[in-house]
Parts: sequence; C-alpha cells; structure tokens
Amino acid sequence: MHPAFAPARTFSETIGAPISFQAIGKRYGGVPALHEFSLDIAAGEFVTFLGPSGSGKTTALNILAGFIEPSAGDVLIDGVSITRLPTEKRNVGMVFQSYSLFPHMDVRDNVAFPLRMRGVPKAERHARAEQALAMVRLAGYGDRKPQELSGGQRQRVACARAVVFEPRVLLMDEPLGALDLKLREAMQDEIREVQRRIGCTVIYVTHDQGEALTMSDRIVVMNEGRIEQIGTPAAIYDNPSNAFVAQFVGETNFLTAALARGRLTFAGVDAPAPARLPEGWRGRMALRPEHFTRVVAETGGAPTLSGRIDDIAFHGGSYRYVVETEKAGRVIVQEQRRHGSDGPVVGAPVTLKFSLERAAFLEG
Ligand SMILES: Nc1ncnc2c1ncn2[C@@H]1O[C@H](COP(=O)(O)OP(=O)(O)OP(=O)(O)O)[C@@H](O)[C@H]1O
Ligand SMILES: [Mg+2]
Repeated sequence: MHPAFAPARTFSETIGAPISFQAIGKRYGGVPALHEFSLDIAAGEFVTFLGPSGSGKTTALNILAGFIEPSAGDVLIDGVSITRLPTEKRNVGMVFQSYSLFPHMDVRDNVAFPLRMRGVPKAERHARAEQALAMVRLAGYGDRKPQELSGGQRQRVACARAVVFEPRVLLMDEPLGALDLKLREAMQDEIREVQRRIGCTVIYVTHDQGEALTMSDRIVVMNEGRIEQIGTPAAIYDNPSNAFVAQFVGETNFLTAALARGRLTFAGVDAPAPARLPEGWRGRMALRPEHFTRVVAETGGAPTLSGRIDDIAFHGGSYRYVVETEKAGRVIVQEQRRHGSDGPVVGAPVTLKFSLERAAFLEG
C-alpha cells in the first residue's frame, strides 16, 4: 500500500481464533461433497482452500460460517464446538465473489450493517464504518451508492463490511474472481495488509493457483471433497505429494522412471539414483519448467534430454517453450532471459540438462 494511503491504526488488535474442522462430512441428497474433512488452522493464520470447481471449497467455508449444516463431524472455533451455533453468534466475517451489497443503502450504511444487527448505536456505527472504509482506502466514499463504484471498490466495501465488527475469523470465497488481473494483484496485497492490521484468522477460497501461492501461509489443495495436500506454498510447489497436486499447482513435466541397483533410468537416461529413493522404486518424476537448462556447451555430467524447440512464448523476463524430445515426449521449459546471450530458436536442436535433486518423485 502506498504510504500516503495508509490510515493510522484505528482497529483494536483483534486476536485471530484457531479453527478446527474435525472429520466433517457433507452430502447433498445422496451426493457426497466433503469426506472426512479434517484440518487445524492456527490463530492469525492465512489459509487458502485451492481446488477445481466442485471440489468442496465453498461447502467447507459455508459449514464454518453456519450457512450449511454438516452431515457428520464437528467444527471448533477457539476450541469450542460451533456446529449448533447460529451464524450471527459465530463472530465470523464473510466476503463473497459477488459483492452482495445492498443497492438501496449508501456505502456507509452497507459497511455499518453488521453493527446495526448487533445493536450498536448510530453514531458509533458510523464512526466505525468510516474507520473500516479508511482501512480499505475508501475514506470519503460513504455517501455513494454501490452502483456508483467500480468493481474493485465494491469489493473493498464488502471487505470493510466483513471486518467492521472486528471478527476473529474472516472467510473469503473467491473475492477477486470478478476482477481483471492487474486489479486482482493489487487487491491481493491489500487483503494481506488488512489481515495484518486486524490480526484475524483468514480462510481464503480460490481456484487460481498463482493467487494461492502469493497470498497464503498455508495452502489446502482440495479435489472431489478430499484434501490432497496441506503445506506452505513452497512445500506444495517443491514437494507435491501426488500427480494431482503437481499438475494443479504450477506446470509440471512427468517422466516415468525406475530405480535398480543404485541407478535411476528414464527416457533412455541412466543416472546415479538420488539417495532419498528406495531400491526398486518406480513411478514418475515431476520436473518444473524452470528445472531445465538449455545446454550451450558443457553439461557438467548432469542428465540430459535432447530434442527440438517449438512454440516459443515471450514472457518479458523469460521465455517459455516446448521441446519435442526424442525419448520423453513434449517437455515445457522456462528459461530466464540473459543479457548478451542468444534466446531459443524455433526448430533448433537443443540439449536440456536438469538436476534430479530438484525433482519430485511420485508413486504410480
Ligand atoms: N445446494 C446444493 N445441492 C446439491 N449439490 C450441491 C449443492 N451445493 C454444492 N453441491 C455440490 O457439491 C459439490 C461441491 O460444491 P462446492 O460449491 O463446495 O464446490 P467449490 O469447490 O466451491 O466449486 P467452485 O469452484 O465451482 O465454486 C459439487 O459437486 C456441487 O455440485
Ligand atoms: Mg465455490
């Protein structure tokens, strides 16, 4: 946030609450949407639910917020079961993808609405609404109607409304889904800034892996109502625990490989096996596009693949291209641009080297 916009700290220091999902199950009619969903979130943590459409992200969030009852299991906030508690008693703020502002109310009354529901007197709720608006950089917009704001501004109003009662938990369901890329990136920073300021625990839902990687303390990768992996962004990116995660988070090249007598063989290459793999291991190696280096002269003994360059895309600071390899099919490569050296050329023969130390080794 630009210092000129940063409002003085006015919110009292909220203490985020720890959250515990305990073996939550949910069926809609006969159709399962969540299976034994268990997860502990620390106080003040920023956790993202990341998964494809239909993976159960909104269902999990709505169970925590109290809009949906689970079919099995229990949810705890601050160590206390809230499964039977009505929504308004849970002290949970919520921001949805659609702004869901009241069109007939001005911005100030929209933001103050949760305080009105809680019986806060008018003068105080207006003062607190102004503070919340300043925090989302909308000081002075209180008299406008929602339709007089841009999409990004509306979503900031929705954020202000979600935090105005200083909830200990803030839930955000694809809050930036309707915004264009540049605005989304700016708002990602703002949301983190708001969280740091008020200290609440945040669960953020997205199906955008880039957004999850940038914003989160931890990511929960979901698929078909189950948790595939939980970890920090770096852990998920560097050590995906299965092919679904490797493919869903970042781009991945898979190479079938097998280990015998201390040697790893794949795509016609025979290399010393990494120490962490057991004898007899077989499965797939997952390599990120940036793990490959185009060899201009000496390979230094690293394993190599050779092929021809195709489909070069210019990305400003880097190139991304496909190599049609002789023995491993299509491999996607990302190459940093280096001043004074030649870039890739379509149709040119190429040798790629890579380090097995950076590969993830997946069963099956
Ligand atoms: N009210 C409902 N009645 C029946 N089935 C539902 C209902 N709500 C969700 N589902 C089903 O439950 C599953 C999980 O849905 P959910 O909305 O939690 O997914 P999501 O991960 O939020 O997806 P998206 O990214 O599209 O928002 C889906 O298969 C969906 O069709
Ligand atoms: Mg959803």
